[in-house]
Amino acid sequence: MFEQLKTRPADSLLALIKAFQADERAGKIDLGVGVYSDAMGRTPVMRAVKAAEQFLLETQDSKKYLGPEGDLQFVRLLQPIIFGKSPAFGERLVGIQTPGGSGALRLGAELVQVANPLAKVLLGTPSWPNHAPIFGSARLAVKEYPFVDLASQQVKIESVVEALSFANPGDVVLLHGCCHNPTGIDFTTEEWRRIAELLVAHKLVPFIDLAYQGLGDGLEQDAAPTRMILEAVDEALIAYSCDKNFGLYRERVGALYVMTRNADDIGKAESNMAALARVNWSMPPDHGAAIVRTILESAEMSAMWRAELEEMCERINGNRAALAAAAPDLAFISRQRGLFSNLSMSRETAAALRATHGIYMADSGRMNLAGMQPSDAGAIVAALRAEGCL
Ligand code: LMR
Repeated sequence: MFEQLKTRPADSLLALIKAFQADERAGKIDLGVGVYSDAMGRTPVMRAVKAAEQFLLETQDSKKYLGPEGDLQFVRLLQPIIFGKSPAFGERLVGIQTPGGSGALRLGAELVQVANPLAKVLLGTPSWPNHAPIFGSARLAVKEYPFVDLASQQVKIESVVEALSFANPGDVVLLHGCCHNPTGIDFTTEEWRRIAELLVAHKLVPFIDLAYQGLGDGLEQDAAPTRMILEAVDEALIAYSCDKNFGLYRERVGALYVMTRNADDIGKAESNMAALARVNWSMPPDHGAAIVRTILESAEMSAMWRAELEEMCERINGNRAALAAAAPDLAFISRQRGLFSNLSMSRETAAALRATHGIYMADSGRMNLAGMQPSDAGAIVAALRAEGCL
């Protein structure tokens, strides 16, 4: 039967990891996959994570199954960080541990498919290249609309308003909670308010992807739009990732939260989330979530984690400032937030930047600002000039 298969191209984003490793040039710069690098160019295990692993090594006395919901104490302890302390909507929230933010997106997509198979998913483009395939694989129709104009680096707010205004009640709107991937362009507070009004007026369900909390302006600031939307609407889904803000990438740590219309629907949502998890991965892997739980249970480790996350955030924003200072045309980069900015360029130009200059960014022109050093700014700008991007 396998002769029937058609060979698929490798994921172009993940292919960059191997291409960069294979490049032997000394001055190569990795602006590819969304991974944080420190001032030494390493992606270290965070200090709080090391401390939690040490603690787990000494104290964990069993690895017996926890169930499809995973570590519910992990899910509970993240809640105030994401949603604030005792929010009014807190009693309508239910969560489950998932394998990374991608697992949360997939589980949420399947939950929507079971609850309302006719729901369309509205996806502003460009977006993370895996969003549309995840929703499509869950047999949901995806409707794309232009979100950002890369040439001007501006949100196309009228296009967003139009897409939401013409959606059907019950349709799902994918929103990046902060640190938009791939553009780094987030809605202003005013624009978020407008989105909230449209969601309410047209009875749409926000599905918020929150994968970079703490890496834009700080934990509280980055969560503010999510909290504002949840205060406004009846129902919502939130896919959360700890991969970046705890530096746990390969451990795959995430959670899916669902906000129901009323407390009565919580049990229904919870049982469906557990059943869908059971047929997908049975139970999520424990180690990463146990690390996060251990950190959040300890005041000392939490303080260590928050301090290191702030350092990471400052470093990324420092890289943004360095690049903006190196070329007036790139001033917008210092106003954007999170790991990414997306220049307007062709695949051929992105390929030339790799081949000729050893500068690795996605074919789409997305660059990971967390992968550079401030001292790389000059080389990056020179390469962009040489390839006609500036
Ligand atoms: C990225 O966008 O680079 C990361 O989220 C890694 C991934 O899985 O694509």
